[in-house]
This record gives sequence, structure tokens and C-alpha cells, in this order.
Amino acid sequence: MEKVTLGQIKRAKGERKLVMITAYDALFAKLFDPYVDIILVGDSLNMVFAGRKDTLSATMDQMLYHTQAVCAGAKRAFILFDMPYGSYTDPASALANAIRVYKESDADAVKLEGGIEKAEVVRTLTDNGIAVMGHIGLMPQHVRAEGGYKVKKDLDKLLEDAKALEEAGVFAIILEGVKADLAAEVTASVSVPVIGIGAGKDVDGQVLVWSDMLGFFTDFTPRFVRRYMEGARLVQGAVRRFADDIREGHFPGPEESY
Ligand code: KIV
Repeated sequence: MEKVTLGQIKRAKGERKLVMITAYDALFAKLFDPYVDIILVGDSLNMVFAGRKDTLSATMDQMLYHTQAVCAGAKRAFILFDMPYGSYTDPASALANAIRVYKESDADAVKLEGGIEKAEVVRTLTDNGIAVMGHIGLMPQHVRAEGGYKVKKDLDKLLEDAKALEEAGVFAIILEGVKADLAAEVTASVSVPVIGIGAGKDVDGQVLVWSDMLGFFTDFTPRFVRRYMEGARLVQGAVRRFADDIREGHFPGPEESY
């Protein structure tokens, strides 16, 4: 299994669709690795894994711990580190934190949220040999400032952000929570791949949060999620059978005993 390279991701635009999924640990990263181009150690782990109400309290230490685990499990996919809220407020702190990512993990690149207002930060990182993926449209780290997760409809702003990131040197852009027709226009306007989440099908690839698409997170299902498995139901059914077997004296059996 050959490692997915940055060059392969850049060249995918217009040639093939990119497949990206989140993972937060070695076990699931190893399971996903053969089938995807990119594994994102997303700050969504703060909600999915740590049970917090949004992503904002994720820390560099926490993200690095999970990225080290993902890198230990996935040997083929391109690994992307999601810069947590507050870790890239200015070029100097962004650079110090992104250097930490490369020094303390095998992550291939970092991702950060923001458009034209983050262009200088992105340029500082790319000038220093750090591969950066942008993230525009609905930006989950803005949830408290915007009072919720809002679908984005301002095409001029999206185009301005995408162009600014491209000029600052990103190798790809995530476009989240954008009407499909606008996402198609943004995708056509830049030379780097645009990976969508809730952005319709006319983009260069798709990403979903693993626990949404595998049905482990069931409190609510966003419209853009397709569930490929009923994970919560399967796990609960199995654990219920395990508990019943113990209580009824059926586990362990002779073949499971020394
Ligand atoms: O943190 C995350 O999982 C993300 C995806 C929603 C793209 O940023």
C-alpha cells in the first residue's frame, strides 16, 4: 500500500473525486485507511470523543494526542491535523503551533478555518514548508459568534475567500454548508481541489465525520449526512446480548474457559 501524496491530491482535481473521512484513534484509522485518500483528525473529536457541546475547547495537546494515534493506525492515507480554535490567531502563533504538529506527529498537513482574513497566516505557514488545507463556508469554530451553524449563501464572499486561500498557497480547500450551485461555482473558480461537506456533489471530493456516517451519533442527523451503517444500534444490540449472556450464565462457555 503506497502512501497517498500531496501531489496526488492536487492532481485529483478534474480527474477523480477525493474521499476524506475523520478519525480520532488508531483502531478506526486502520479500518478506514485502505479506502480513503485523506484522514482528517478533526476538532469535531471534541464533540464526538470528548462529549463537549462544540469544537471550541479542543487544545493543541488533545489534537496532537489523537493525531499520533491516527498516524500509528493509518499508514497509507494522507493525514490532516485540524488546528484547534485559538491556535492560529496570528502568523507567529500559527507558525509555532504548526511546527509543533510536524515535530510531534507524522501528520502530512494542517487545516485551518478562515478565508481572506487568514490569508497572511496561511502564507506564513506555506512559506515555512507547511502544507495547509483551507476551510471556508460554514466554519464550526464560529458557532458561538454566529449563534449557530448557518448555511452560507454569499457567493461573492465565498469566491473572495477561496481565491485568497489559493493565492496564499493552500493545496486544497474544504467548503462546508454551502448551497450546491454556489459550491459548484467556487469549485470552478480555483485550481486547487475543493472538498465538500454539505456542499452538494459538484465539488472535487467529499468529507464526512465518521460517527455521523456510520450511525454512532444519533442525537440528530444533518441533512447532508448519508448513514452507511446503524453503528449505535449494532453496538447496543451486541452489548445487550453480552450482558444477557453473563446474567443468564451463558458466558463464558466451556470453549471460552481454560
Ligand atoms: O472537525 C471536523 O471534523 C471538520 C469536518 C467537519 C470537515 O472540520
